[in-house]
Amino acid sequence: MTADPIRWAWAAGLLLAWLGLIGLIVVLKRRARRPVETPTADGWTVVFASQTGFAEELAVMTAQTLRQAGKAARLISIADLDVSDVQQARHLLWIVSTTGEGDAPDSAARFVRRAMATPTELEGVAYGLLSLGDRSYRQYCGFGRALDGWLRRSRASVLFDPVEVDNGDAGAIRHWQHQLGLLTGSTAQPDWAPAALDRWTLIERRLLNPGSPGGQAWHLAFQPLDGVPDWQAGDIAEIGLPVAAGQDQTTIATREYSVASLPSDGRIELLVRLMMRPDGSPGLASGWLTQEAAIGDEVALRVRANRGFHGPSADVPLILIGNGTGLAGLRAHVKARARAANRGQTWLLFGERTSAHDAFYDDELTAWRTSGVLTRLDRAYSRDSGDGRYVQQLVAEQSDQIADWVERGAVILVCGSLEGMAPGVHAALEAALGTERLIELTETGRYRRDVY
Ligand SMILES: Cc1cc2nc3c(=O)[nH]c(=O)nc-3n(C[C@H](O)[C@H](O)[C@H](O)COP(=O)(O)OP(=O)(O)OC[C@H]3O[C@@H](n4cnc5c(N)ncnc54)[C@H](O)[C@@H]3O)c2cc1C
Ligand SMILES: Cc1cc2nc3c(=O)[nH]c(=O)nc-3n(C[C@H](O)[C@H](O)[C@H](O)COP(=O)(O)O)c2cc1C
Repeated sequence: MTADPIRWAWAAGLLLAWLGLIGLIVVLKRRARRPVETPTADGWTVVFASQTGFAEELAVMTAQTLRQAGKAARLISIADLDVSDVQQARHLLWIVSTTGEGDAPDSAARFVRRAMATPTELEGVAYGLLSLGDRSYRQYCGFGRALDGWLRRSRASVLFDPVEVDNGDAGAIRHWQHQLGLLTGSTAQPDWAPAALDRWTLIERRLLNPGSPGGQAWHLAFQPLDGVPDWQAGDIAEIGLPVAAGQDQTTIATREYSVASLPSDGRIELLVRLMMRPDGSPGLASGWLTQEAAIGDEVALRVRANRGFHGPSADVPLILIGNGTGLAGLRAHVKARARAANRGQTWLLFGERTSAHDAFYDDELTAWRTSGVLTRLDRAYSRDSGDGRYVQQLVAEQSDQIADWVERGAVILVCGSLEGMAPGVHAALEAALGTERLIELTETGRYRRDVY
């Protein structure tokens, strides 16, 4: 062993340099494992694309969670979002649903067309994605996946893997909350369970179409046991299916129905079609509501805002188009107009099977037409001999008048069947107004749909 101090100094220096190098490698490796730097600065943008309101509800709760953790959070509908907003935002949380057959919600039309047509430069932008869907559809989370693809091709980086929610799956939503907790450094997980269902009583049930060649359509009315909540025309009632004895109360299955009445009626009215399954058995909710529940029975129900199907202010001309049980949502809009002081022109175009059996709410609609609440009322019956037409044919026949109303600022609301009616009406409106004009109406919220 040497006693030379110079040699000892060299050896110690080399050892320190070696330890330093190892330390540096460890730090660099740790950094590389993180997909992006978790943002520490404030400034989150929460974007929602929602067709029937659920994604919007979750977006509101996401923004609240961020704010409670001391972060600044901007909540914005995709309808109001431009690529430049995405580039500047840098940290985005997207909450989007899929509608139609793998389609984007209507409110996303402008963004899809203008922003998502080609990849853009989003390097430095980091995002998380909550994608709502339902596995029973062929293109599960179609829009969420398309958005994710566009973001990745645009070189945005993921904060964590996209979270996909099948039919409201509570576990997936908790996973999203968990990711939010990691981002904000907050361990508090507020309860995001949907608002509890309220207690209502079934007070009226009436078959609207005895003798119809179509499925039974029932008018149902419910009275609240705990006070009338507030809602608007276009909103949706969620009905809880009865829970069997011993079944977990927290996993109540729900079904959605367009509300056909207003709070000033003091009751929720629905128009429910008895659905038959391929094996001939009745649908769970529609069967129970129309065949099994007795007048006076308690029903679990809550109203959910469906802002995408709210109407314009009462003085704006309004064209309402629908078929079958779609009349429910349209009826609430006409009711709202009937009660408005400064009422714009209102035109209802409705299609069903036979004039003899399926003229739902005929007395009421005729009275509205007579009193001028409805400026025009046009109905088509597909099974009437000699005059069989669908509502989309009515739209085609009235194309000049519809174009004229639209020129005067009319908003178009469509409610009813996703299959047949909605694409048929869309094609007829495209022919009447032109593709570009219809896109523009969609983008500006003047063409809104509640189709299922
Ligand atoms: C936003 C929204 C609003 C709605 N508004 C109304 C309304 O106002 N009135 C109304 O009657 N219904 C409405 N529905 C449909 C309703 O929510 C239920 O899907 C329907 O009542 C069937 O439920 P169920 O439990 O009786 O049938 P399930 O036990 O769920 O079985 C239904 C059977 O019918 C099929 N099925 C389900 N829905 C449809 C459909 N729309 N078209 C064709 N086949 C179908 C299924 O594949 C299954 O075989 C609405 C749906 C949505 C999403
Ligand atoms: C008419 C209709 C069409 C739908 N189409 C799809 C689909 O193609 N793929 C999918 O994964 N989910 C589909 N869904 C399920 C919705 O994405 C899901 O119910 C979601 O929670 C709705 O969120 P929203 O209320 O924010 O629009 C559809 C739902 C409805 C009512």
